[in-house]
Amino acid sequence: MFSIERKDFGPDFTFGVATAAYQIEGGQTDGRGPCIWDSFAKTPGNVINADEGSVACDHYNRWPQDLDLIRDGGFDAYRFSFAWPRLIPGGTGAVNQAGVDYYDRLIDGMLERGIKPYGTLYHWDLPSALQDQGGWMNRDIAGWLGDYASLVGKKFGDRLAATATINEPWCVAFLSHFLGVHAPGYRDIRAAARAMHHVLFAHGTAIDALRAEGVKNLGIVLNLEKSEAATDKPEDIAAANIGDALFNRWYLGGVFKGEYPEELIKVLGPHMPDNWQRDMETVSRPLDWVGINYYTRGLYQHDASVNGFPISQVKGPLEKTESGWEIYPKGLEELLVRVSREYTKLPIYVTENGMAEVEGDNDPRRVSYYEEHLKAVLNARAQEADVRGYFAWSLLDNFEWAEGYAKRFGIVHVDYNTQERTPKSSYRAFQGMLHNSK
Ligand code: FCB
Repeated sequence: MFSIERKDFGPDFTFGVATAAYQIEGGQTDGRGPCIWDSFAKTPGNVINADEGSVACDHYNRWPQDLDLIRDGGFDAYRFSFAWPRLIPGGTGAVNQAGVDYYDRLIDGMLERGIKPYGTLYHWDLPSALQDQGGWMNRDIAGWLGDYASLVGKKFGDRLAATATINEPWCVAFLSHFLGVHAPGYRDIRAAARAMHHVLFAHGTAIDALRAEGVKNLGIVLNLEKSEAATDKPEDIAAANIGDALFNRWYLGGVFKGEYPEELIKVLGPHMPDNWQRDMETVSRPLDWVGINYYTRGLYQHDASVNGFPISQVKGPLEKTESGWEIYPKGLEELLVRVSREYTKLPIYVTENGMAEVEGDNDPRRVSYYEEHLKAVLNARAQEADVRGYFAWSLLDNFEWAEGYAKRFGIVHVDYNTQERTPKSSYRAFQGMLHNSK
């Protein structure tokens, strides 16, 4: 049980759970086109245990039961993502009617159960046909995403409580084009510089497209990390500052101020697309809310052996989750306050927060993780950060990208042999706090 109560958050605070299409849907028949995670996962060595998403949690078929779990947990909202390759299998052009029908059923299923739909356009499943043309490295991605956004706006816009363009642009760009950890798996500074700019340019273009369709309550979901220096040596403090620029300020600065950090432009400038400056007005289109995903901090030290960004990360001393990520609730509080003081007065939603834990339905460490992070949200609100909602990552154990099915983030356990769902203690803790309190 949590020691905090729902009323501590005020009457209008939204509690939800979050998932993403590729991580749970499966259902790759029915006209869905191939995406970059299908081929990335089939490439040996990219994903632990050679896991992939063709069945995942079979949410494509089992969504009624999953929506029942959300309702019965007492949650107000469900943050899900649309699969671009399910709606437009080739990325552009022909629409897959079975895909439209599926999201129609899913959204109507939420509304019937009193659950508010929070949709995300892009949670990493880029149609392969677009990757063939350069994907996020190609400036045309803005138009491709814009057309896809118009389709989503037309078909579903009037039923969505909130819509986000991109989930975690740092992952889309840097993790996937510089660090090579996620699809498409590039390790190339030119690829990264282009993706870092195009992902935000495409975001702004999608905002315009959604607005043109009359869709209300638009935002973006940024993953932020508390970047800290491993020691108080000046060179480590400088390294943490570069880490902060790469992880946080590129995206916050771009979206809310129309500018990128000077120190990064010095390194990335030669690799950026021509005339990127002209796009900054689109990059910084006004929004209605901002989503923040938070998991941990990053501890940096100077590393002279690294070109470009002379930094590396070290393992910290704090208690760690099964992903090896330090548990650091204070970081969430400080980031929420920082965003509201330095970047925007818009409503903030914590759109993801959670931890990987060993398998089982008794997860007391996760219960206390959630409790400590919910307290961090309350502390941030007390410092005038306008936090309006909190979404637990994740409803279900699921396909954790390059970590495969081994890392379990669900508040509901999934047996991948039988697809049986079993609520964990953390689900019960939320239920205890939320039940009968709407
Ligand atoms: C975030 C992703 C989400 C999930 C969690 C653990 O970076 O948005 O899909 O994998 O991490």
